[in-house]
Amino acid sequence: MIYLDNAASTHPKPETVYAAVDRAVRTGGNPGRSGHRAAFDAAREVFEARAVVGEVLGASDPARVIFTLNATHSLNLALKGVLRRGDHVVTTVMEHNSVLRPLHRLEASGVETTLVAADREGHVDPAALEGAIRPNTRLVALCHASNVSGTLQDAEAVGAFCRRRGLLFLLDASQTAGAVPLDAEGLGVHLLAAPGHKGLLGPQGTGVLVLAAGVDLATVLEGGTGTHSEQRTMPDELPEGLEAGTLNTPGIAGLAAGARYLLDRGVADVRRAEEEILAYVLPELASIPGLLLYGPREPAARVAVVSFNLEGRDGAHVGFALDEAYGIAVRVGLHCAPDAHKALGSFPAGTVRASFGPFNTLQDAEALVRALRELARL
Ligand code: ALA
Repeated sequence: MIYLDNAASTHPKPETVYAAVDRAVRTGGNPGRSGHRAAFDAAREVFEARAVVGEVLGASDPARVIFTLNATHSLNLALKGVLRRGDHVVTTVMEHNSVLRPLHRLEASGVETTLVAADREGHVDPAALEGAIRPNTRLVALCHASNVSGTLQDAEAVGAFCRRRGLLFLLDASQTAGAVPLDAEGLGVHLLAAPGHKGLLGPQGTGVLVLAAGVDLATVLEGGTGTHSEQRTMPDELPEGLEAGTLNTPGIAGLAAGARYLLDRGVADVRRAEEEILAYVLPELASIPGLLLYGPREPAARVAVVSFNLEGRDGAHVGFALDEAYGIAVRVGLHCAPDAHKALGSFPAGTVRASFGPFNTLQDAEALVRALRELARL
């Protein structure tokens, strides 16, 4: 199989990830819950994981790297931990349902939301985001790169005006963490949400929420932490205060191995390789008669998530044919981001999406182009 569905979950993982998960399951031990060696080893594994994942994301305090189940979990903790009745949020039409649905739920509790428009390539103008600020705006939530069109947003400009205007900045790095060099602290991000199982190369069931110094969240989940057990309330200390219940230690061990792979290889090298694939695949796809390509044409303006349609053809059939006849795995439909498709002009049918990862080669991209040239002729 040629796996081009890395925006949904990267595959394969580095060999060290499989080994780390296996080792952690065999070692056992519940971090922070007991005083025996297995529990202590598990706690050390988890602590080291916070440090290496933080290093990949540009976050220097491991205690502020909170482990979650996925980016959706991280985004829910962030939005519901910050926003209160009467608060206003500025966000964009390019967001995933992991932002749009929690915000819709919060609107019922008196939170106000403004969705700022994008252009036909999926770019949101930072000046338009700043222009949407009201006196009661508390937070700006931005999807760093679209999971539909790959469009990268100008996080630096958004971080700068958030700092100037005293607003919290939530960055959804679901498609950029591990794929694009990131410096959460340098960008002035207050809350960074990322899945562990995409660019960070960990297993599914892992995610992180990184909090900047001084950012406090109300809890969304309460439960055991192994600390301050005499209290009815969650401890104030991080990370425990936001991590109720037993952690996914095997998943976190795998995530740490993924992060170490990235630190060794360098995220800049992953980015360089993916830009090389984009530089080949974008003009090739654009040259196929009847193929509609979405998103920016310049590799530097996007990540390696490429959406397209064959004119007059059902995307589901194209996706099925790619899988059945060519062994190429892609994702078809609305990609849980309906408003992004509206902005790009692909709603309600959606698109066929090929997304490249750190182990894809130019040959994989060539196979996709060959297959689509044939399918377009049928
Ligand atoms: N959000 C993931 C995707 O875009 C699952 O496929």
